[in-house]
Amino acid sequence: MTKSAISDLPRHVGDEVLLEGWLFNKRSSGKLQFLMIRDGSGLVQAVSAKSDVDDATWAAGDSLTQESALRVKGTVRADARAPSGVELSVRSLEVVSPSVDFPIGPKEHGPEFLLDHRHLWLRSRRPFAVLRVRDAFIFAAREWLHEHGFLCVDAPIFTPNACEGTTTLFETEYFGQPAYLTQSGQLYNEAAAMAFGKVYCFGPTFRAEKSKTRRHLTEFWMIEPEVAYMDLDGNMELIENFVSGVVARVLDRCKEELKILERDTTSLERVVPPFPRIAYKDAVAKLKAKGHAFEDGGDFGSPDETALSEDYDRPVLVHGFPAAVKAFYMKVDPQDPESSLSVDLLAPEGYGEIVGGGQREDNLAVLEQKLEEHGLPRAPFEWYLDLRRYGSVPHSGFGIGVERTVSWICGLSHLREAAPFPRMIHRLTP
Ligand code: 4AD
Ligand code: MG
Repeated sequence: MTKSAISDLPRHVGDEVLLEGWLFNKRSSGKLQFLMIRDGSGLVQAVSAKSDVDDATWAAGDSLTQESALRVKGTVRADARAPSGVELSVRSLEVVSPSVDFPIGPKEHGPEFLLDHRHLWLRSRRPFAVLRVRDAFIFAAREWLHEHGFLCVDAPIFTPNACEGTTTLFETEYFGQPAYLTQSGQLYNEAAAMAFGKVYCFGPTFRAEKSKTRRHLTEFWMIEPEVAYMDLDGNMELIENFVSGVVARVLDRCKEELKILERDTTSLERVVPPFPRIAYKDAVAKLKAKGHAFEDGGDFGSPDETALSEDYDRPVLVHGFPAAVKAFYMKVDPQDPESSLSVDLLAPEGYGEIVGGGQREDNLAVLEQKLEEHGLPRAPFEWYLDLRRYGSVPHSGFGIGVERTVSWICGLSHLREAAPFPRMIHRLTP
């Protein structure tokens, strides 16, 4: 007898198979038990008929409670009414281990309760769908980048320097000297781009975000492509091609998951190049015309981003932010020294910024001055300055946040659901 994953059952119609899983829920009507079984790959209904099974199997079926672990053998039958098109007729059933009073029932639970029980909540339908979309997104992103000539060169997690400003650094002690958890792999990516041309890094990044918002985690995952000999325009083209290519693959591969999440995918189907591009200055004028109290030269807040993107039917690229609100490494616009060659991508439907990037400062003297202006220490950046001493070239890149992007694709109201075990200011457990 072959063991089958539930997701493979449609290939086994007529066969006798072994399933190993857990009880999702059950109901019975006299001489029939309807057992909904999950194994992580999917859900299937197994039907046990008192007249067809031995007493031990019938009693085992009776004793099953939610999340009891079980092994079941039976015959796969095609059933047009079943969501997966198949059902299992039970021949024998064995309880592997019981589960008493599983805390998450079919009734509604509050978000804090669910987050406190995230280790068990993972077994429910929404996490099943969201974390599969997350996996599909990461897989498609890596696949797309490799198909387009990018090499994965990962960046370290322990770092001696700040990439994205000193206010959100997590400091730790590294054998007697201070170290920080990385905020972004970008600086190392730039070294790798000078060595390999087109690279990306992918890993966890950390920000001591003291605010509680639906868009901020303290630990999130970021995919960061970086390309030598690429300017801001090339970067914007790369962003739109990458994002549209990856979203299309996820839509194609996650139909069932998006259905579980009741995601209306029409707006995602419109995510095709070219994306509209708007200069920061024009974006500010737009916001003012919409009556937003906006301070000149400032960065956009969530309501600003929502207001900006609502005029477009696909993600919008905003470029040329004031140098003053951006990180030290952004290249100053040669046409306008107040502006930087930076770009953000705003997702539609109020999801806001999902990508941040830009062209990097490649001039040694300017970069030295920028470090000073930002009050950053020189010594831990010496290696980074070397990149401008030995064959410096124009180069650009961006970072896309996995949880923000998955939230948008899945239509989530808070990005915490897009992380398996989210970390936020008040949450370190489980
Ligand atoms: O705009 P950010 O800060 O850019 C960088 O870190 C660059 N060094 C990336 C690069 O050019 N290689 O962050 C990039 C993206 C944001 O657009 C957002 O999607 C995500 O990372 N992000 C967060 N996601 C969740 N929680 C947070 N606290 C986040 N901060 C940024
Ligand atoms: Mg940003």
